[in-house]
Amino acid sequence: MKYSTSIKFIDTYSYDRYDNFDDLETRSRFYPLQVPMRTEPETYPCSELSAGNEAEKFLAELAYYTQGILRCEPQNPYFYHAAVPSARGIHPCDCYYLVYSGKWIVLRYSKLSNSFEFCRECRDEEFPFMPDQKRAYILIAADIWRLAAFYGAFSYVLSMIDAGHIIAQQMLIAEKYGCCAERCDTVCTEGYGKLFGIDISELIPAAMLSIELPGSLEGTFSIPEGNSECERALSYSEDVARFSLLNEVRRKVNEACCEKGTVFTPCAKAGIMSSGMPEADIYSLFRKRSSGQSSIGTFSMDTRISAEDMIRIADDIRSTVSTFGSDIMTGVTLFVNDSLTDSIDLSGREDIHLFSETEPEKFIHDSHSMLDIASMPFIAVTTFELEKYMEKYGDLAVSRIYSDAGIVMQAVSLCLTKEGLFTRPLKNINERYIESLPFMAEGGRVSYMLIAGSENVYSIKIPFSKI
Ligand SMILES: Cc1cc2nc3c(=O)[nH]c(=O)nc-3n(C[C@H](O)[C@H](O)[C@H](O)COP(=O)(O)O)c2cc1C
Repeated sequence: MKYSTSIKFIDTYSYDRYDNFDDLETRSRFYPLQVPMRTEPETYPCSELSAGNEAEKFLAELAYYTQGILRCEPQNPYFYHAAVPSARGIHPCDCYYLVYSGKWIVLRYSKLSNSFEFCRECRDEEFPFMPDQKRAYILIAADIWRLAAFYGAFSYVLSMIDAGHIIAQQMLIAEKYGCCAERCDTVCTEGYGKLFGIDISELIPAAMLSIELPGSLEGTFSIPEGNSECERALSYSEDVARFSLLNEVRRKVNEACCEKGTVFTPCAKAGIMSSGMPEADIYSLFRKRSSGQSSIGTFSMDTRISAEDMIRIADDIRSTVSTFGSDIMTGVTLFVNDSLTDSIDLSGREDIHLFSETEPEKFIHDSHSMLDIASMPFIAVTTFELEKYMEKYGDLAVSRIYSDAGIVMQAVSLCLTKEGLFTRPLKNINERYIESLPFMAEGGRVSYMLIAGSENVYSIKIPFSKI
């Protein structure tokens, strides 16, 4: 069968993944706190994130509203929070910013110092594509070993979803500035590793964005003398070797990237602003987004929501997701809780279903004592057709399917945040049950889920300073 390894990987890490979590052999030796302790002996803080010129401000916002620490929540088992969610709050993805500041340089954002670090200076002959000085090239690379101690090779799937949340957020920021963004998936090659100064046998490139800058960055960053290359304090070669199916997929992805070369595709619009969101408020929305995990226990909603509001919110989600067009082949099915609303007329609406048509607690695989699914007002599920992705992306489909799920869910999450609801993405879901519901398209696959509701306790959220 064509692309059989990639299809096997998707099946293993969707339907059969819960069996694989128990296999300690497929886990990493490292724990998340150790993993970010790579040394980059000669990296230099080279710019505090400050609102300098327009292009610097834009770059700072791209970094801060994806990776910056926005707040801490003392009662939440996951203490620090960024503008994007991440499985277990671990944030395995880092962004590497390739910009022209008199010379082509690579920068990486440091959460600790809220600044850009200098990674390396690039030579002209290293570029696998023709760079444009008026654009920034952002490589999103996953350090999946931060997660692999918990989830083994399934961390690849979670990291690609995380990358999708980052991509959506950066698309929105670009939209706010009126700057056009393009996406390039074909970046898992040695050439890109060298250019961005990362070892692709250890870090896994998820995608690269090329975003037009609103001005010049010439002279913005201080460039240290001499060239430095990053080195890890910990070696992962032993761990990497242990993930045989993942390595096989990565090999195929590399081959596909080499074959296709560098292909930039214009990004679809993320469209939050088109659904009544004033541009000025987009960052306050980013700050309000929360998975609502501050209290251990159940989350409930016992107030009623009018049928009119349910439909309005569903329409908002539908129109936002429709702005992605055919570029992203992932759809959203919305479930509304009819026990919380008056009678609701869904005739002609194939994208919305009622909780009463399902057994909501079966949507999740575990954590039944922590999540009172039947009390949520909304559940959103992303769906895709495997054959279509395979046809269009071949072996690149594995990362594309999950990053697209992250992109779509970030948009859905912001639509619901706008309504004052918490929005928690979930991957501990029961795909087989959801796919078996009679109204789900035959052969359609489920990639990701999100629950939205009200936090039923007061939770302390300490905001960090804004840039
Ligand atoms: C890919 C992904 C999978 C997740 N899966 C789950 C899950 O299965 N169960 C859960 O309670 N939370 C899940 N979360 C939510 C994270 O725990 C949450 O984003 C993290 O704790 C950070 O909190 P915040 O989103 O409020 O900043 C997931 C998040 C992502 C991005």
